[in-house]
Amino acid sequence: MELIDKRVLVTGGAGFLGSHVIEKLKASGCKDICVPRSRDCDLTRHADIERLFETVRPQVLIHLAARVGGIGANRANPGTFFYDNAVMGIQLIEACRRYGVEKTVVLGTICAYPKFTPVPFVEEDLWNGYPEETNAPYGIAKKALLVQCQAYRQQYGMNAIYLLPVNLYGPGDNFHIESSHVIPALIRKCIEAVDTGASEVVCWGDGSPTREFLYVEDFLRHPESIGPMCYLRSGIPGSQPTKPIKTPGAS
Ligand SMILES: NC(=O)c1ccc[n+]([C@@H]2O[C@H](COP(=O)([O-])OP(=O)(O)OC[C@H]3O[C@@H](n4cnc5c(N)ncnc54)[C@H](OP(=O)(O)O)[C@@H]3O)[C@@H](O)[C@H]2O)c1
Repeated sequence: MELIDKRVLVTGGAGFLGSHVIEKLKASGCKDICVPRSRDCDLTRHADIERLFETVRPQVLIHLAARVGGIGANRANPGTFFYDNAVMGIQLIEACRRYGVEKTVVLGTICAYPKFTPVPFVEEDLWNGYPEETNAPYGIAKKALLVQCQAYRQQYGMNAIYLLPVNLYGPGDNFHIESSHVIPALIRKCIEAVDTGASEVVCWGDGSPTREFLYVEDFLRHPESIGPMCYLRSGIPGSQPTKPIKTPGAS
């Protein structure tokens, strides 16, 4: 699918990842891009989604809007993280079905993987256990959207894909003291320690956990991310569809 002549709706397009995606889309020649802001369009509200789809009539949806945050934010808001992410995604995917959107791209999260997934992660392990408890409400809400995409593909032939990037970091990241992810949180702590002349930086945890990180520009440069996200045949050489993630019982 060529995106250049399509009306592309990018929810969360003003966020950290979203702003990089928008930059890439524009650089690739895509002109008709709509980025709704939460202050004007609350995607947890059905009426706002209806108004958005009625007005924009998108041909492609890239769904990046989410309630996200690091461990502290997940611990403090498990209910909000579950509800907002589930409700936004479920309603948007359903709206894509009803409005005949040609391609739906949904962003998942590495937090959907089981707590004790062997490293390196492989897709086959996605359903082999419960996620790490702190992130589970967020991870499971997002994981339900994978099942929804697969169910809609199966029943309605919906052209939907679901991407699961690892922890991303880079320019425009969230450095907020309470809601940042680990890399920006560590950068902030180090800068503040230098500024204040502190002799140590206090990090959370016992040092044993391992994480996988990816620079946001590398994620979008990779043929298996922005490629299937946009199916751009121009601008991103070598882009091609990625294989679907298998769920138990899925054909
Ligand atoms: N960052 C990572 O490391 C990472 C890794 C894997 C997957 N992801 C996924 O990538 C996507 C983007 O993440 P991000 O880090 O870029 O997050 P982000 O910077 O927090 O951006 C999320 C955006 O979602 C929008 N949003 C939140 N609630 C909304 C609502 N009720 N209605 C409308 N819009 C709403 C916000 O829009 P406003 O600015 O208008 O308020 C915000 O800009 C998410 O789906 C996330 O799960 C991120």
